[in-house]
Amino acid sequence: MTQRIAILSGKGGTGKSLLTCGIGEALAREGKTVLLVDGSQGLRSLELFLGMTEGILYSCPDLAAGSCSPEDVLIEDDVHPGLWLLPAAQNLASDQDLAENYEKALQMIQEGGTDIPEFDFILTDCGGSLESQLALASLSERPVLAVTPDPAGLRAADKLRKLTSKEPEMILNRFDSRDLAQQILPPLSEIQEMLPLKILGVFEENDGLRRAVLTGSDILQEMPEFTNTARRILGQDAALPLLPGNSGRTADAIPPEVSGRRRTFWNRLFRKGQK
Ligand SMILES: Nc1ncnc2c1ncn2[C@@H]1O[C@H](COP(=O)(O)OP(=O)(O)OP(=O)(O)O)[C@@H](O)[C@H]1O
Ligand SMILES: [Mg+2]
Repeated sequence: MTQRIAILSGKGGTGKSLLTCGIGEALAREGKTVLLVDGSQGLRSLELFLGMTEGILYSCPDLAAGSCSPEDVLIEDDVHPGLWLLPAAQNLASDQDLAENYEKALQMIQEGGTDIPEFDFILTDCGGSLESQLALASLSERPVLAVTPDPAGLRAADKLRKLTSKEPEMILNRFDSRDLAQQILPPLSEIQEMLPLKILGVFEENDGLRRAVLTGSDILQEMPEFTNTARRILGQDAALPLLPGNSGRTADAIPPEVSGRRRTFWNRLFRKGQK
């Protein structure tokens, strides 16, 4: 049976597209057949992250409109067997069209075609506005929040978890270990207290990963940690990476060298609803 996973964040630049590709590659490496759906209508990017340089002729709305077949529109990754892409259109569509086209296209794909496999996972990179991200996520069984550990990122995630139709899981991305080591960022345990969601992965800010995206090279090879995230998605046990400062410090223990303003700031963020 196909499982649909939607990666969303509300906020831009949290790594949704990168995480979608890395997890898709890792699931394919685990032997699963995976369809990546680019949900950023008007601003597609997944083919670039995957290093696909061949021209894209058709997109999700073309399939939904019946202008092409699943075989015409789906592209198989030649580096990761079992990984396929449904590209987004480059022209703008309304939020309502986006969700309708997506559902129609996925139904046509799941009804199959001669050369189309039965997918174990459909992984959607939910781009665009908060509304369009929520609309796409509502069509998946498993919403996953891509969360950056900065105040705006954490607040966006806290808001989104109340807006998704199902309890989401989360991936923490773009941790800077220097910020953790200097206790500028709260440790993972405190972030987990504020956002009590299942963690599927923790990724540091990584220069190799950034360069892999710039050059269209293999994301999974650059960041093997994606394999552990894929295994957690598959329900297997895989330890989370150890990060500096990731041990039981409480919010009150923020050291004096962290300014009073910042201390109050994190305390307020963590003790939501209290004066
Ligand atoms: N862990 C990381 N280490 C280094 N660079 C990263 C990391 N995560 C994301 N990036 C970089 O940050 C940029 C934004 O990532 P990405 O495009 O995946 O975010 P997004 O959430 O999809 O953005 P948008 O909301 O614009 O669609 C990219 O250049 C990507 O390579
Ligand atoms: Mg994106």
